[in-house]
Amino acid sequence: MSSGLRKGLTSYGDAGFSLFLRKAFIKAMGYSDDALERPIVGIADTASDYNPCHGNVPALVEAVKRGVMLAGAMPMRFPTISIHESFAHPTSLYLRNLMAMDTEEMIRAQPMDAVVLIGGCDKTLPAQIMAAASADIPAIVLPVGPMSTGHHRGEVLGACTDCRRYWAAYRAETIDESEIEAVNGRLAPSVGTCTVMGTASTMACLAEALGLALPLSASAPATGAERVRLAEATGRVAAGLAELGGPKPSDLLDARAFRNAGTVLQAIGGSTNGLIHLSAIAGRAGHRLDLAAFDRAGRDVPVLVDLKPSGLGYMEHFHHAGGMPRLLAELGELVDGTAPTVAGARLGEVANAAERVPGQTVIRSRHDPIKPDGALAVLFGNLAPGGALIKQAAASASLLRHEGRAVVFESLADLAARIDDPDLDVAADDVLVLREAGPLGAPGMPEAGYLPIPAKLARSGVKDMVRISDARMSGTAFGTIVLHVTPESAAGGPLGLVRNGDRIRLDVPGRRIDCLVDEAEWARRARELRPARNVPSRGYARLWHDHVTQADQGCDFDFLSGPAETKRTGSGS
Ligand code: FES
Repeated sequence: MSSGLRKGLTSYGDAGFSLFLRKAFIKAMGYSDDALERPIVGIADTASDYNPCHGNVPALVEAVKRGVMLAGAMPMRFPTISIHESFAHPTSLYLRNLMAMDTEEMIRAQPMDAVVLIGGCDKTLPAQIMAAASADIPAIVLPVGPMSTGHHRGEVLGACTDCRRYWAAYRAETIDESEIEAVNGRLAPSVGTCTVMGTASTMACLAEALGLALPLSASAPATGAERVRLAEATGRVAAGLAELGGPKPSDLLDARAFRNAGTVLQAIGGSTNGLIHLSAIAGRAGHRLDLAAFDRAGRDVPVLVDLKPSGLGYMEHFHHAGGMPRLLAELGELVDGTAPTVAGARLGEVANAAERVPGQTVIRSRHDPIKPDGALAVLFGNLAPGGALIKQAAASASLLRHEGRAVVFESLADLAARIDDPDLDVAADDVLVLREAGPLGAPGMPEAGYLPIPAKLARSGVKDMVRISDARMSGTAFGTIVLHVTPESAAGGPLGLVRNGDRIRLDVPGRRIDCLVDEAEWARRARELRPARNVPSRGYARLWHDHVTQADQGCDFDFLSGPAETKRTGSGS
């Protein structure tokens, strides 16, 4: 097996010439023969002027390079797609698979013996981990780390749970234009990822739980010296991976790793998006995440981390309370401590080395949890035969069992046009239903599941309602919101059968979501359903349309899951 600069030579039919040419070109950068003979560590650089969350990536790249070189290997930075939540039309999930393909193919195309994946903003770490699982060369993840908190009138602010809270207050006219403008300038006071337990923080924690990142790298603040030292340490470990040829993602991403990640997702009060990404990563590693099994296991896992949007704190508090190692220690036997990690220690050893911080209340013990059972619940019923998800930890307790009249929005455009109409026939105990917002429908499964409270209800003080859709929700959002209804309406799912005025019953303890229409009528509507689909004529949009899977399979492309294998076709034999 070739290594270093001899890996993956361009095909000219003459390997010696390919290497000669490669060395001739790379020497243009001033590298010596000594440098070019070393094991190579690729560094996936996701800095972009469109991605403020990754504003510290250049400094991290430099620190990783230092670590690689101190350990005697050769670092080589390469750019990939970068995705920021607010600069990703139509949605960041839509681009996640493109970034995963870009990253996987560049890992394969360029000679490297190990790779450091620097990411953070919501879809970047999932894309990179999916890519690493498929490329299956030794890989280590370095999250960019959470941003600082902001302050406004004596209150601590965190993107982006407080973005939503303040926007809701503005819609309800409890704060005015000048105050919302002031808040706008204070919500994201530094580079780094959203500082609540949103999708970015969730995925960084899951990277540690999967054994792919160094302890504490999920939570060390983006702007601190510790983050830079973690980058240097990551570079050192990567050099060792390059030298030894492992462990590879396939050595780490086994059934134990996915069970541990599911447990951590529940215990941190993690983002609903985390389940989609975990399903996609599992698919790349040749596993299938069973939603019912995830839900069953989750019933025994208490929420232990007191962070917004489920709780009170921010990522810096989680870090100073001991971060992921402390959480793993508190989870005890709920985590399989025999699972290996990229730096060599077993996960149990990481937990045993956790700091015990006197007086901290952010990472609770199992005797004093934030919530006694897991953050996420999987629902089934006639509305969601393939499953739906609710973040019960961020929902109103009074609405977890609720029956109400359906108020249906046909699409995002319909929602935007009518939600604030003073004549909208809606009451506080109604159930808002949004369809055509799934992977195919929107397309790209936008984070539109956090339907706004109709303005006239918001003004009268309504803060939460049951909302159901085939969309996703930002990990920083909160409310009694049923998401990821599968199959989606655009794929012929039963969400498309609901009519205004139908009764809908949500029963989170019973794990059910049903439309209370008699079976004969339900079947009649199903026979008449003709989901309309716009088929893109070309390009990535067409690829997405033709190959994206539903939420229960992670919205990956159907041809990307499972281990890589080449089949010979058309040989006539
Ligand atoms: Fe980048 Fe929230 S927008 S992590």
